[in-house]
Amino acid sequence: MNAPWKPGTGLREPFAAFACDDTTADTLRAVAAELGWTVEKVHKGGLRNAVQSLSVSASPQILFVDLAESGDPLNDINALAEVCEPGTVVIAAGQVNDVRLYRDLVASGIQDYLLKPVHPDMLREALGHAQAMLNAPKATEAVVDRPHCSTAVIGTRGGVGASTVATSLAWLMSDKEKRATALLDLDVHFGTGALALDLEPGRGLTDAIENPSRIDGLFIERAMVKASEKLAVLSAEAPINQPLMTDGAAFYQLQEEMRAAFECTVVDLPRAMLVQHPHLISDIQTAVVVTELTLAAARDTIRILSWLKSNAPQTQVTVVANRMHAAGQLEISRKDFEGSIERKIDHVVPFDQKLAAQAAKLGKPMAEAGKNSKTVAPLLDLVKGVLSVGDEALDAGVPGAGKSGGKGSSLLASLLAKRPRK
Ligand SMILES: Nc1ncnc2c1ncn2[C@@H]1O[C@H](COP(=O)(O)OP(=O)(O)OP(=O)(O)O)[C@@H](O)[C@H]1O
Ligand SMILES: [Mg+2]
Repeated sequence: MNAPWKPGTGLREPFAAFACDDTTADTLRAVAAELGWTVEKVHKGGLRNAVQSLSVSASPQILFVDLAESGDPLNDINALAEVCEPGTVVIAAGQVNDVRLYRDLVASGIQDYLLKPVHPDMLREALGHAQAMLNAPKATEAVVDRPHCSTAVIGTRGGVGASTVATSLAWLMSDKEKRATALLDLDVHFGTGALALDLEPGRGLTDAIENPSRIDGLFIERAMVKASEKLAVLSAEAPINQPLMTDGAAFYQLQEEMRAAFECTVVDLPRAMLVQHPHLISDIQTAVVVTELTLAAARDTIRILSWLKSNAPQTQVTVVANRMHAAGQLEISRKDFEGSIERKIDHVVPFDQKLAAQAAKLGKPMAEAGKNSKTVAPLLDLVKGVLSVGDEALDAGVPGAGKSGGKGSSLLASLLAKRPRK
């Protein structure tokens, strides 16, 4: 009977191997038999034979090649790439124990490099990973169609909770929406992106600032700290006795590489950075402006909305009022605040001391610590709105998006005028 046809597998053999010595070939045969693969597909010979054989036949799904007899493994691997059909997962083995070679091989598309003598357990594990890779493509295919979603979170004043919103947003995108997400914390000296996720920030961001020319896909892969399978963070606690020496090129480059490597990017963008490096906003789809309801915040919300209107007219703007107290305790009422900024507040996150403290104690984003809490519900709405902008379903979310404030209303002036004069 015919085996059921699986999409994408075509008529390819599941496995083929080219081994230079009998011991490796025997190990390969034993493990291949365990996995139900035909042992005849384990051939004697190294990389050269693999290249010869594949130039005249279909590539298998998983290919094992022995580099032991190869004088210039990198060059030979490139020759293999020319004859190998796309989609084949290649596992190499060799005697050279050199991390640089390993990195170069991985960079040229090899899935794994095993040090000889090849132990059966080592081989089983590598083949298991290769199978997992082959079974995963549906998920990747489903996501590649969506455009990248870049979001910047900007606080109108210090301490309004911009970083809290940024980490929660990134967490919700990765955990609830299952999108591969990068959190880029551009508060280089005082950032809390890593701290909030209970991680060490590492040297990645500082290295990037010092050597912007080093930033590429591989750098991103190594420098970013993983918070979970779908969430990675780039954050720093740069020494505070050193001023930031950058023209902003590194930040721009980082955003570009993250766009290629992730489905979503959330940038924690301090207002001072915006002033210093205005170009950072140029490729951002949604700006989440986080504010509190105070007079000073009203003034700066007006200024930031106006700045966004002139510097990033293409960027959708969402206003979030965070740490919102009960009406009686507010410095400015919601109505007056909305009147002064000449637009609606889109999302209101209540002041929730208990949840904020719990999140800090657990080392988790607020959205994770309070999964079903009323405080988190508006953040969930925010994520849906932001992603709908990314997916170009503008009508579906972000109420009032794009209607950023003008020069500031006379209401702010009248609020200021209400202050008693000396
Ligand atoms: N909705 C909330 N209710 C209560 N506390 C909150 C809320 N949101 C944030 N906080 C708390 O407010 C404090 C400041 O938050 P956060 O660091 O996110 O602000 P920020 O705007 O990023 O500050 P900075 O200007 O230093 O970057 C933190 O202690 C945080 O736990
Ligand atoms: Mg912050």
